Amino acid sequence: MAGMIVAGNWKMNASKNTVTLLLNGLKQGEAKVANAELVVFPPFPYLAQVQMELSGTNIRIGVQNICAADKGAYTGEVSLAMAKEFGVSYALVGHSERRALYAESDAQVAAKYIATQAAQLTPILCVGETLEQREKGLTLSVVTTQIQAVIDAAGGASFTNAVIAYEPVWAIGTGLTATPQQAQEVHQAIRAHVASVAPQQAASLKILYGGSVTAASAEELFAQADIDGGLVGGASLQAESFLAIGQSAK
Ligand code: 13P
Repeated sequence: MAGMIVAGNWKMNASKNTVTLLLNGLKQGEAKVANAELVVFPPFPYLAQVQMELSGTNIRIGVQNICAADKGAYTGEVSLAMAKEFGVSYALVGHSERRALYAESDAQVAAKYIATQAAQLTPILCVGETLEQREKGLTLSVVTTQIQAVIDAAGGASFTNAVIAYEPVWAIGTGLTATPQQAQEVHQAIRAHVASVAPQQAASLKILYGGSVTAASAEELFAQADIDGGLVGGASLQAESFLAIGQSAK
């Protein structure tokens, strides 16, 4: 699909120095990435620095998590209005690390998705099965249940302004990438599930693959019919590998 997205989720990895190094590298190389929008997801304290250093570039900014509430007594949380002051365009919602380590429920994920759209930002809804679920043959039902929770809360039309990221939990940070065929099977099922309630939105929906994407694996993954880019963790921390993944978008 034309116009892929290659997103770099830095997770909890950054310092002022490494941010400048990485962004300088991305700025030098961004012109070589012709067929993908590059997006970086820094930790919150670096948003101001990232916004300043990326000004005048086409590289977009996202946040890794967001609070669904507007403001008030939510100690430790960051609002969408705050993120927007730093030029943010995207918010990850429902990353498996948030679901597993911070017990985020499908209902909380749906609330964050709705709040992100209400703030006129684009949610990237992350879904994916564990190894145990895959081995039990539950992959498609787990993933479609996660998406259905958002459809129930926000409606199918909401996918006009949303991205889905399929990230099998067993492939995240493990060096085990889903094969292009395994990924395509799930991406196709995701698109079909959204199409059952919102056919128009499903046709243009961008579905990213995440889970140990590298420059070596990206090209074949991105060549699959229903894969519209990548959500990259480890390999997004070096400009060279992130740009090479961006160049794999054809
Ligand atoms: P890795 O690319 O490090 O496996 O991380 C994937 C991920 O979780 C991106 O959100």
